[in-house]
Amino acid sequence: MTETSLTIPPRVFSGMQPSGNLHLGNYLGAMVNWVAMQRTHDCIYCVVDMHAITVAQDPHELRKSIREVTAAYLAAGIDAKKHIIFNQSQVAEHAELAWVFNCVARLGWLNRMTQFKEKAGKDRENASVGLYAYPNLMAADILVYRATHVPVGEDQKQHLELARDIAQKFNNDFAASIAEHGFGEEFFPLPEPMIQGPATRVMSLRDGTKKMSKSDPSDYSRINLIDDADTIALKIRRAKTDPEPLPSEMQGLAGRPEAENLIGIFSALSGQSKEEVLKQFGGGQFSAFKAALVDLAVAKLGPVTAEMKRLSGDAAYIDSVLKDGADRARVIARQNMDAVKDIVGFVR
Ligand code: TYM
Repeated sequence: MTETSLTIPPRVFSGMQPSGNLHLGNYLGAMVNWVAMQRTHDCIYCVVDMHAITVAQDPHELRKSIREVTAAYLAAGIDAKKHIIFNQSQVAEHAELAWVFNCVARLGWLNRMTQFKEKAGKDRENASVGLYAYPNLMAADILVYRATHVPVGEDQKQHLELARDIAQKFNNDFAASIAEHGFGEEFFPLPEPMIQGPATRVMSLRDGTKKMSKSDPSDYSRINLIDDADTIALKIRRAKTDPEPLPSEMQGLAGRPEAENLIGIFSALSGQSKEEVLKQFGGGQFSAFKAALVDLAVAKLGPVTAEMKRLSGDAAYIDSVLKDGADRARVIARQNMDAVKDIVGFVR
């Protein structure tokens, strides 16, 4: 069966921006699920460098960051031979399909995107056009592979709903042409967000109501994947808590965002449910729980950090992984993009 036949095979696509350090939120919210999905699906994992330049980047830092994120994918356990790892800018079809989607998506849809509002801040007139059109490129990333499943953290939900709206509108607007070219009723699948596990939204260690993020000015707000054991220990010990002992039941976490966040992190790292974690630590003080969390975090993240550092030192190897991945990704993307050209009415 070829790529552009009537049935759309299941396929996973996801990506991370190479802008600044990866952190525990990226790891638990996305990467752990990416690794798990390799067992059941064909997966494509992208380093989305074209998304990164929607805000200013230093070219030297960007190059370093692309390689570092690639190293993190490999260190976390993504198999670049069985699946695909590549950087977005090496497959021009992403930009090509994004233009078509710029003409499908409506201004009103993009105006609702909360991430643009947050990132553009007060000085919206000065934000790049790329930052505004970012969700259209993200839809193209997914749909140029006709991917069906997209493992992400909670914060990407709205962007994925937009990707589904774009896919749906394209399928409706071009229904006659899609059928005429032998693709049945729908060319694009409506991609399914996979927001899974106990840590879909890891919060700042300094403020349990704010998301853990690369852009937080305080480095104590996050655990970076490159942090060493001492730094992890220090950050967890300094993490904000409240004066009450830990509860034994889930209801006891209500209104206690810092406690809830640390329990969620423990649960995700240990593979236990939050209920089990509370059973173990409920009634005790934060200090004992934090000591156990330090041990767990160092045991789980240490090997990933070490492997990531080792791989980051070998730029030639990393670049070869990216090139090989891009070559394989491009074959799929080209086939789908040619079909889009036919459907839209371009001559090729
Ligand atoms: P990015 O680079 O901001 O984040 C990468 C992944 O990490 C997740 N994540 C979190 N999960 C839980 N808690 C947190 N505090 C946290 N912070 C980040 C994100 O949800 C994401 O899954 N727009 C995307 C990149 C992208 C993409 C795509 C993703 C571009 N094209 C196509 C999926 C499909 C982004 O900026 O992610």
